[in-house]
Amino acid sequence: MHTSWQELIDEIENCQKCRLCERRTRVVPGEGDPNARLMLIGEGPGRDEDLQGRPFVGASGKLLDTIIHALGMERTEVYIANVVKCRPPLNRNPEPDEAAACMDYLRKQFVLIRPKVIALLGKVALRYVLNEETPISRMRGVWVERKGVWFMPTYHPSALLRDPSKKKDAWEDFKQIKLKLEELEKADK
Ligand code: URA
Repeated sequence: MHTSWQELIDEIENCQKCRLCERRTRVVPGEGDPNARLMLIGEGPGRDEDLQGRPFVGASGKLLDTIIHALGMERTEVYIANVVKCRPPLNRNPEPDEAAACMDYLRKQFVLIRPKVIALLGKVALRYVLNEETPISRMRGVWVERKGVWFMPTYHPSALLRDPSKKKDAWEDFKQIKLKLEELEKADK
């Protein structure tokens, strides 16, 4: 069945498919350009996101904004989403059944947005989007191509805040992303 963008957002906002709906304040479907060429996927809403209904608005969101600006882009030009759309209690990692219940929404977002490049922010996004258990420290910086879409696993901004020595590697990954977007743009012309 064809789902329109608004139908999908409404479906996500009314979701009760897993236990995370019980304690949420707001659902966080994602935000940005629904036709974005670059999509960034985090883990799940934290406290600030749960209160505002928007992804990456807390401390790690500020760092993500800086990264997006350093790529020469605006938040409104990319699409930012999470593996789970409701905050896990105490910011724990999503459980496999919670991620599985929510993946259908992310898949529908992929189908509607049709991004060329997807940045997987951290091990939770890597694990559930690519089904990959390899540690992020080994997978980061390595392109994975699936059905013509390019995935770049990299560190989660909160990992960069905890350990600033990782920023250098993360910046290398984002430079790769910028180059890939330019390369794909040229190939489209
Ligand atoms: N961390 C995430 O993974 N996602 C958010 O939206 C905020 C913090």
